[in-house]
Amino acid sequence: MLHRGLFAVLTVGMLVASLASLASGLGSSCSTPITSGTAGPNDPFWLQNIKHQGIAAFNSNPGGYKVFRNVKDYGARGDGVTDDTAAINAAIQDGSRCGQGCDSATTATALVFFPQGSYKVSTPIIAYYQTQLVGDARHPPTLLAAPNFQGIAVIDADPYLAGGAQYYTNQNNFFRAVRNFVIDLRQVTSGGATGIHWQVSQATSLYNIVFQMSTAAGNQHQGIFMENGSGGFMGDLIFNGGNIGAWFGNQQFTVRNVTFNNANTGEYFYALYFKAHFTNPIYAGWNWAWTFQGLTINNCQIGIDVSIGGTTQANQAVEAESIIDAVVTNTPTFIRLSEDSNGSLLGSLVLNNVRLNNVNTAAVAVNGGRVILSGGSKTIDSWAQGNVYHGTNSAATWTQGNIPSIQKPTGILDGSGRIFGKTRPQYGGYAVSQFISVRDQGAKGDGHTDDTQALKNIFAKYSGCKIIFFDAGTYIVTSTITIPAGTQIVGEGWSVIMGSGSEFTDYNNPKPVIQVGSTGSTGVVEISDIIFSTRGPAAGAIVVEWNVHDPAGQQGAAGTWDSHIILGGTAGSNLQGAQCAKLRDNGNNCFAAFMALHLTSGSSAYIEGLWAWLSDHDLDAGGSGQISLYSGRGVMSESQGPVWLIGTGSEHHVEYQYYLNGAKNHYIGLAQTETPYFQPSPVPPAPFVTNTAYKDPVQGPGNAWALTVTNSQNILVFGAGFYSFFSNYDLACSNTSNCQQQIINIDSSSSIQIYSLSTLGAVYQLSVNSKGIIPASQNQNGFAQTVTAWTR
Ligand SMILES: *[C@@H]1O[C@H](CO)[C@@H](O)[C@H](O)[C@H]1NC(C)=O
Ligand SMILES: *[C@@H]1O[C@H](CO)[C@@H](O)[C@H](O)[C@H]1NC(C)=O
Ligand SMILES: *[C@@H]1O[C@H](CO)[C@@H](O)[C@H](O)[C@H]1NC(C)=O
Ligand SMILES: *[C@@H]1O[C@H](CO)[C@@H](O)[C@H](O)[C@H]1NC(C)=O
Repeated sequence: MLHRGLFAVLTVGMLVASLASLASGLGSSCSTPITSGTAGPNDPFWLQNIKHQGIAAFNSNPGGYKVFRNVKDYGARGDGVTDDTAAINAAIQDGSRCGQGCDSATTATALVFFPQGSYKVSTPIIAYYQTQLVGDARHPPTLLAAPNFQGIAVIDADPYLAGGAQYYTNQNNFFRAVRNFVIDLRQVTSGGATGIHWQVSQATSLYNIVFQMSTAAGNQHQGIFMENGSGGFMGDLIFNGGNIGAWFGNQQFTVRNVTFNNANTGEYFYALYFKAHFTNPIYAGWNWAWTFQGLTINNCQIGIDVSIGGTTQANQAVEAESIIDAVVTNTPTFIRLSEDSNGSLLGSLVLNNVRLNNVNTAAVAVNGGRVILSGGSKTIDSWAQGNVYHGTNSAATWTQGNIPSIQKPTGILDGSGRIFGKTRPQYGGYAVSQFISVRDQGAKGDGHTDDTQALKNIFAKYSGCKIIFFDAGTYIVTSTITIPAGTQIVGEGWSVIMGSGSEFTDYNNPKPVIQVGSTGSTGVVEISDIIFSTRGPAAGAIVVEWNVHDPAGQQGAAGTWDSHIILGGTAGSNLQGAQCAKLRDNGNNCFAAFMALHLTSGSSAYIEGLWAWLSDHDLDAGGSGQISLYSGRGVMSESQGPVWLIGTGSEHHVEYQYYLNGAKNHYIGLAQTETPYFQPSPVPPAPFVTNTAYKDPVQGPGNAWALTVTNSQNILVFGAGFYSFFSNYDLACSNTSNCQQQIINIDSSSSIQIYSLSTLGAVYQLSVNSKGIIPASQNQNGFAQTVTAWTR
């Protein structure tokens, strides 16, 4: 990369301060570094009492519109007795928000807060578009389904209307979060009850939720019901009891650290259910790609049911499952698989580091329970079902059995040999006084004031001394802002930092909007609930340049959680239908970025739940009106590791979605991409030009790479969904799987392992040195084509 030479000039005093704070990795220049939380045992979560002055900058009434809502201010009692449904829904609906008939909007975000308590509900809590439902993280509140509860689920993220229509388009149901709750269904003793109807797409998360369900024989409780969408991330979930823990159907998802417990009643209990429900067409278990990382199943009857019934390879619904680091205990069957009428097993499955304790069978075929993989008490190291490839050999080996051990990149495992995971920091132990509000410190976040200097001052004064709270708003910056190593940042809802102005318009001279750490810096960086964005034209914006590295011995110290890079399509971006309607040639005005995210060679990164999206439609136009925007590059990594990309997506960038150049020691699972809809007209790098300083890769023949890897080593991709649906905006090619010729390219690299790769619309699923190696025609797997393993 091009060094921009931000060498800090250290005074002796600063040097001493920075040495002193090195131990914690926090703070470089403040006098009283923050080391630990000081909240008292009975204090509520800081978010409850911090001053609430967040705004929706582009709301028609920014002065009157409230982003933060405490449900108790709307009459909820939280006493476990009063029916709080109407009060909670009133808190969500207050202000003119995006409910029924809206489809999507970016002008009315809301963070709906639930203090400690037990909130009884009798019909669904309807989570509107762009809503976060957040409980007290110290004392998670209970959402208690009343005995007479009626409706699809306690929380409904996409309600059905009569005739099967819905509030929101499932693949466009973005910007949702639910965290810190207990959802208790146990009072519902007759009929069914469900915790969350989570039919969502990217930039969505569930965190820290316990589902309490009946353990009685024949109960009809289920934790999550998800039948469609294009997600997403969820983690830190516990499912107790129920008939079905989670019912999953979605294009792709990443699930980390989930536990299913159930008293063994002798009834069928499914921890995870991917089985199609034939009696009602809207219920369908399906996926193209799905990764579980850290899965615990105790005392269930069937761990994972993917058996959709005897059918064929062509209409197989549950296409690819990849499971890493699981423990399955006292459960007769871990996985039940689909097979066709001739007994051929269907779908792709990859298992790694699965510990079985008293499991009768690890995998069985659905018809008659034929044993595919035996059980017992043992560890399954690496096992796969599906087509396995190696190197430049185009011949598939259909495998149903052990595969060579999956090699783990250096530095990515935790002390117990599992892929390291770090829960999103919520600072539950911290007192309100340990936070500093950027608005209190002079930043406006109103979508027009230039907040560059105010933010620079805040980072200079408070990094490492306070947790920096970005009150909801859109903060305009007009030159590079450096977030120093040692900084902890948390947004309110999703607070937006938007690069704007002439500094970011020249693609021959790109500049970072946000620089995280300067070259060579080490320390803690925690960023959650922030959206990084640009205002067009911004052809020269590197939206986030990430330089910071974990301090020695502090795995995952530098990272982001539920933070996204959203380019265009949103209010205030000047990159919406009015400026950039589909294929209107508006020249430079519709360029949104040079690059979304750059992990530089000295960095490490723990990134969980990140969507680097160039918008393909206007989110405020009500009905998904397409727009034509241009972003040169998605996620580029030159990091030597460790890098964790857990539940990330990168879509619609011109040259590549993911590019690893000279990179080492990355764990990537699951990664999701889409190719720009306008390609191959023009052919990349057009409308940009090749940039040698940023080591632009060899271009694909006509379309962006989903993933291109050069001179890299020790890369593990565990789950990928790489899609190409259009050719010059025409969908017809997705029926014939030829929207683009090649989609992944691997050049001069070693120890590259890719598991559970599903692609759509590509003729070759993987190329080496730009030559197609794996023809998609060998790997039809339902709608997608799946490569179960490719290694080199
Ligand atoms: C949900 O997914 C199923 C299975 O792919 C599909 O049949 C159904 O039409 C989808 N429903 C909606 C509302 O998109
Ligand atoms: C896993 O989730 C549980 C809560 O469900 C949490 O206590 C634990 O810290 C999480 N572990 C990791 C590694 O994220
Ligand atoms: C089962 O095998 C027969 C005979 O080879 C074949 O004609 C049929 O298509 C197969 N069925 C499926 C579902 O693959
Ligand atoms: C794809 O094929 C289906 C079934 O043959 C057809 O109904 C649909 O119109 C086709 N879609 C396009 C975009 O050509």
